[in-house]
Amino acid sequence: MALHTQVFEPPEKSSSPFYQPIELDFIALDSICDHSLYLKLNGKYVLYRGAHTPFNSQDRDRLLQTKNKIIYIYCETERDLRHFYEQNLSNIIENKEIPVKKKAEVLYQCAKGIAHDIFENPENKESIGRSKIVVENTIRLLSQGTDAFLQIISLSSHDYYTYTHCVNVMAFSVGLLSSLGIKDQALLNEVGIGALLHDIGKAKVPHHVLNKPGPLNAEEWAVMKQHPALGFEMLFETPTPERSKSIVVQHHEKISGSGYPSGLKGESVPLISQVVSICDAYDAMTTTRVYKQGMSPFKAFGIITQEMKGAFDPNLISHFIKMLNLKDRK
Ligand SMILES: [Fe+2]
Repeated sequence: MALHTQVFEPPEKSSSPFYQPIELDFIALDSICDHSLYLKLNGKYVLYRGAHTPFNSQDRDRLLQTKNKIIYIYCETERDLRHFYEQNLSNIIENKEIPVKKKAEVLYQCAKGIAHDIFENPENKESIGRSKIVVENTIRLLSQGTDAFLQIISLSSHDYYTYTHCVNVMAFSVGLLSSLGIKDQALLNEVGIGALLHDIGKAKVPHHVLNKPGPLNAEEWAVMKQHPALGFEMLFETPTPERSKSIVVQHHEKISGSGYPSGLKGESVPLISQVVSICDAYDAMTTTRVYKQGMSPFKAFGIITQEMKGAFDPNLISHFIKMLNLKDRK
């Protein structure tokens, strides 16, 4: 793999410290970087700029003049590297010099890292707060054109993990809501946060139920069905926006009234919860689990439109199909 394509791929994935190559464009200008910056000279890493010192355009130009397009940051762990990308994410997304594909790659990796931390340690309110960074930047990237959406979707993991599933559902939901013509940034942000956190209640579901390699029995299913309410409870005392919390508790409601926990019907399921619900169902069907292969998008929509007929608004389904068809045309 060429040096410049390395994103979130430390040379050693163990706990050993490492120097990570970073393209100069990735470093926000005039901002205080928490990491020391190094140059590689004759095979040795030499300190260029200590941590917490501003990096400005003159520094950047000087480095470019000396043909240094890559700088290195020293990371004790992979977490340090993630912190660097999170800290510079807005700059990376806004920077016109960085190709959309690379922006999408950094964004998806940051989202995965944050979602992973949320599910590993759901009591940590700081991780929930970090979800805002990734949602805001997803919306920012999506506003840069359809290609951005396609790039994010093409990166979405096809192997099911609760945290990658949540990232996929977040990207689908914000994309679908935008494709419905909704431009209200606050609403898009809150839906993105709700979608990213929608399954947070699964952190409280016993492992033997959550990770059972096969269909659940009635008793296990009853436990599993508690996760929307458990998620709502977990977020109750956090500063999570109200609309995001309502998505968490309503993401399994269906307009047919067949959903849970409340069996809401028709318009009593808010549009934002319907959006997350259909994106959740689609991603769950198309990703691969330990015990089943993911379905093709075609087959998933066959189930959504036939076996699940009445569960989702037909208008929403057709917008979703239209949005994904763009990908197939690529
Ligand atoms: Fe769920």
